[in-house]
This record gives sequence, structure tokens and C-alpha cells, in this order.
Amino acid sequence: MARSWMTHSAAMMMAGLAWCGSTTAFGQSTQPAADLTVTIANAPKAISPDLFGIFFEDINYAADGGLYAELIQNRSFEYQPTEQRTWSAASFWSLVTRGGGKGNWFIDAAWPVHPNNPHCVVLEVSNAGDGVGLMNDGFDGIPVKAGAQYDVSLFARQLYLNDRWGRGSAITGPMPIVVRLERENGQVLGETALQVDGTDWKRLAGSIEATATDDDARFVVLARARGGIAMDEISLFPRHTFKDRPNGLRADLAQTIADLHPKFIRFPGGCLAHGSGINNIYRWKDTIGPIEQRRGQSNLWGYHQSVGLGYYEYFQFCEDIGAKPLPVLAAGVSCQNSAHMPGIGQQCIPMADMPAYIQDVLDLIEWANGPATSAWGAKRAAAGHPAPFGLQYIGIGNEDHITPGFKERFKMIADAIKAKYPQITVVGTVGPDPSGDDFDAGWKFADAEKVSIVDEHYYRAPSWFWENLTRYADYDRTKPAVYVGEYAAHDRGRRNTLRSALAEAALLTSLERNGDVVRLSSYAPLLAKQGHTQWRPDMIYFDNTTVTPSINYDVQQLFSRNAGDAYLPTALSGVPGGARVAASCVRDSTSGDVIVKIVNDTDTALAGQVDMSAVTTGARSVTRTVLSGDPDAENAFGKPPAIEPRTTTLPGGATIRDTWPAHSLTVLRIPASDH
Ligand code: AHR
Repeated sequence: MARSWMTHSAAMMMAGLAWCGSTTAFGQSTQPAADLTVTIANAPKAISPDLFGIFFEDINYAADGGLYAELIQNRSFEYQPTEQRTWSAASFWSLVTRGGGKGNWFIDAAWPVHPNNPHCVVLEVSNAGDGVGLMNDGFDGIPVKAGAQYDVSLFARQLYLNDRWGRGSAITGPMPIVVRLERENGQVLGETALQVDGTDWKRLAGSIEATATDDDARFVVLARARGGIAMDEISLFPRHTFKDRPNGLRADLAQTIADLHPKFIRFPGGCLAHGSGINNIYRWKDTIGPIEQRRGQSNLWGYHQSVGLGYYEYFQFCEDIGAKPLPVLAAGVSCQNSAHMPGIGQQCIPMADMPAYIQDVLDLIEWANGPATSAWGAKRAAAGHPAPFGLQYIGIGNEDHITPGFKERFKMIADAIKAKYPQITVVGTVGPDPSGDDFDAGWKFADAEKVSIVDEHYYRAPSWFWENLTRYADYDRTKPAVYVGEYAAHDRGRRNTLRSALAEAALLTSLERNGDVVRLSSYAPLLAKQGHTQWRPDMIYFDNTTVTPSINYDVQQLFSRNAGDAYLPTALSGVPGGARVAASCVRDSTSGDVIVKIVNDTDTALAGQVDMSAVTTGARSVTRTVLSGDPDAENAFGKPPAIEPRTTTLPGGATIRDTWPAHSLTVLRIPASDH
């Protein structure tokens, strides 16, 4: 692929980039070395205002048991041994009998609450005693807080009425049930009484106030009379979710994400989007509407997706945090690693089914952007959002093997979008790696098809990031633009070290410098639950009650909260030979602020100045935020951060004197009124 925009050395000069060999020892010196000069030119280049976003994928229990605030595991009785060998529709539930109660339970499929939700549970009570019922211990326990409200809902219907099978005296009245939160030892932490009345499915709802805090509580539903009931979609939510939305998101985790100020959210995958085999492709239509009508399915990362966190919730979250939605839909093919066949498992949707598949893609755009009077816009409105969501980007494909089957289907989908919705920006894919056969074939195809943006992925060692800081300088600006959709520096042991975070910071300076061709970027993966982490490193770790952002999160936040929409050419001089140093400067037209970022991943502090004379003569103080420390440092789960960004002020002026510590990212924010 030719990218003959400018020569490598010309790009180095324009970029002002000086670097970079590798450093071997990491002992830190406090003595500033060198006399580094960062010179900012007043020749703004427009760059993407959407450069820094996030990528949410349901991996590492990111959705169910994670961001999605539902506290019951397997609420729909749809877990399967195809998801985990030891699982069944009954997993995470057990029978409880109280005070001489006797009964039985089993999974049934005879009269589902909805065809998309085929299994339910049947509870038979032969002797009520103090109750016969079912217990669920959630996702590694149910965390409850004293004084907090919990909303319960379930679908239920009565069985065995009128004693048709001669089980004793006729059962005619409703079935009283009690729904409780209990400690592991059975102590009741709050309860509510409901009743099941009649043989039709009905939704029952109530709320429980927890009387004490317990991170490992249980949910119990007890029937209190002889008879039988079927139940499904048994749900327990904290009343307080992010923005207090019903069927909402875990407030602390969502807030941690919101605090990144991402410009967009890519979802739901990743490999999850194209699935393991065509029957596992993520189908957005299965994820909207009432939760009991959604079609859960297995997650290619080896567990179950309830899709309670579905497209409506994703779009609502985007809106709530001011991020643009970037849904990714399969390009009519599944993951090439499908069905335990790494690299050769790609399956293609049969051509006969492609028109319907393409219609699903077009319907998504109508659902997101159409008026409430349109067929799909009406469904969005019925869910509570009459105004359009304002979809601008749509991803087609993820890391796909660039085969004839992929190309044919991608083209059909992209052409249909272009024809009906020319204002939508299609993001294509160029395989799983930053080079190689799929990358080259993907680029060639995307270029020929005039795809607007292509999605590049790289999980590489920190040194690779430092060695690729000029990667985009030579990209041909007449060809498709770039979305760096998944990246992370994988340090030794795949740890979230400061070294990895600084390598990513260096990359981000290069993305700012090339923000005319790189339009979007997102670190991956975003979330990982303790005890269910399948992939490292990740940006944010959590368990049921705590959240531990990584040092990589700090870097993401420093860039996304100090982003600009114009790049000011940034030249570095006086960099010691072999030093890992990178810098960039942007202006944010909203605030008018100019922001300089300097990454120093050497063992010594570097002293110097930022020559701002071309852009400012003012003398007001500059906000200076520094993240620095031992390059091997990483945040330990549940502990205070090993290192944190520290903000101070510096005297402003045309020349800003500063010292950039060993192994540091420094962000200098020069207020608008100074220039
Ligand atoms: O981010 C984890 C996985 O990495 C994504 O699902 C996939 O696109 C990539 O291989």
C-alpha cells in the first residue's frame, strides 16, 4: 500500500518528533539532564474533534455482572451447557425450604413468557411450611447497602389449579409469595410480599429496603401456600443506577467511564459483534424492547449475554455522557476463529439471507435517527426516547479475515447504507493486526470501495509503540481515514505498568499530530471483573463493590479531557540521543485553551522550556498535571493508586520553563486569556 503523503524525514521535521531507541535500565535520576526545547508554531491544522473515545465489549463480565446493574444471575433461566460445560438453565438457582416446607422445582419450556425467552422455572409446593422457594446468589454474591432500595420484578403464573391431577384438595386462591434479601446465614435483610394470581403470565413488582449492608447477600423467593407457580425473568435492581435509569447501569462503574469524557463509544464488540458462527452474530433487534422479550445468547467469550444491556441502553448511555454512539455490526460474516477453528472458521451469511440482514442494518439507522412516526423510530419512542439519537458512525465488521465472502457482503451492506443514508459514516475493518496479509488486503479493498474510515488494531509491546510514532505521518490523506479501534501496550506479564501507559501516551501524541487522518481511537478492553478476567491488560478493573482504574486510565483521561480540535506543530530539540521523548500541542476552540503534552520515558528528568511565543504573550499561570513514577508501577486492585496525576501551576508567559520527570506524562494547559 502506498502512502506517499510526505517523506519520513520531512514528517519528522514537521512533527517535531525526536526519539527514540530503547532504554535498558530504569533507575531514576533526580538531576535534570539536557536542555529540551518544545517549540509551538502558530500554524493550526484542523484535527478530529472525536479523537478520544472508548470501546465497550462484553468481555471479562463487562456487561452482565458488570456495567449492567442487574443483580440476579441467570434471571431468565436461559444459561446453557454450550456456554459453560457445567451450566444449565437451572444454574445459579437452588431450592430452599423453610419451616417444614416441602416441594420441588424444575425447568420447563411448555408455556414460555415469550418465544425469545423459552425456558422458565416451575415451583411445586406440597407442604408450604414457612415457605418453599428458590435462591440466587447473583454474580459472586449480591451486594446490598443499608437503607438502599432494591426493585424486584418477575413474571409468574399459577399451575395445578383445580386439582385436576388429584393432588389433594382443590387449589383455588392466588399463591402468596414473599421476596427477600438474606444474609448467607439466612438472616433477613428486607422483604416484600406479592401474589401470583391466575394462569396467565403477569409481571409482579415490588421493592425492598435493605436493613443492613452485606456484600454477599442472597435473593430468595418463597411460595407460602400449597400449589404451583411458573416464574421467569426474576430481576433485582438497585433503585439507584447511573442517572437513575430503570434497567440501568451500575452507578459507580458508569461514572468512572463518564469521567473519561469520551467523545464516542464503540460497542458491543469486538469479536462479540461478529460472533462465533453466523448463528452467534450479535443481532441488535434481539436486544431492544421489554427485557422478557429479548433473546439472550451465548457470548463468544465463554458465558451468557442476557442483552438486558442492549442497544437502547447503549445509546442512552452514550447520550447521558455526551458520547457519540459507534455501533459495530457484523459484515455478514462471523469471526474467523469461530467454532474452535482459529483463523479458518469464518462463516458467511448465505446470499439468500443477505437482503434481510442488510435490512436489519438499515432499520438500525431508522431506529436511531428516524422520526417517532417511522416504523423503527416508533419503537425507539415507545421505549422512552421520541427524539432521534443522532447516529453518525456505524462500524461494519471487526478484524475480519479479508476473504471474497467478506468483501462481497461488506460491499452489499456499505452500498446499501450509502444509497439510503449517505450522511452516515461507515467504518470498515482491516484485520486483527497493524500489518500483514489481512491488513494489506483490507486497506486495498477499503481504498477501492472508498470506505470513509478503517479500523486498525494493535496489541503490541511498549517498544513497538515508541517505534511507530511516525506511522501515520506518511498516510495518504486522500485515502480512507483511520480509527485506531483497539490498542494497548502489552508490557511483560501483560501488566498495566506506567511503562505501558507512557507508550500509549506517546502513541496519543502521534494521533494528535496526525489527527487529520486518524479520526478516532479507543483503548481495549475497557472493563474487567475480578475473578472473571479473561484478557489483560484492561483499562478499568472492578468487583461487585469497588472500581480500580489502571494507570492507563489516567493517561486516557488526561488526553480525552485535554483534547483539541486543532494541532499546533510541535518541534522538539535538545533531546538526548536514544531518549524516549514525545510531545504534541493542540488548541481547543471551545475553551480557547492551548494544551501541550510531553512524554518522557527515560530514566532521567529532562529540563527545558516550551517556547510558546508564537501563540501566547500572556503571563497567567499554566495548569500543569504530571503522571510519573516507577515505570514498573501498577495499581493494585482495591488499593489506593500506586501513582496519580498531580496538578500544580507554573508561571505562564511566552516561554514556560519546566522539568519533565523521569518516566512521566506532563500536560500543560495554557488558558485562553493568555493568548
Ligand atoms: O479486545 C479484545 C478482542 O481483541 C476483541 O474482541 C477483538 O476485536 C480483538 O481481537
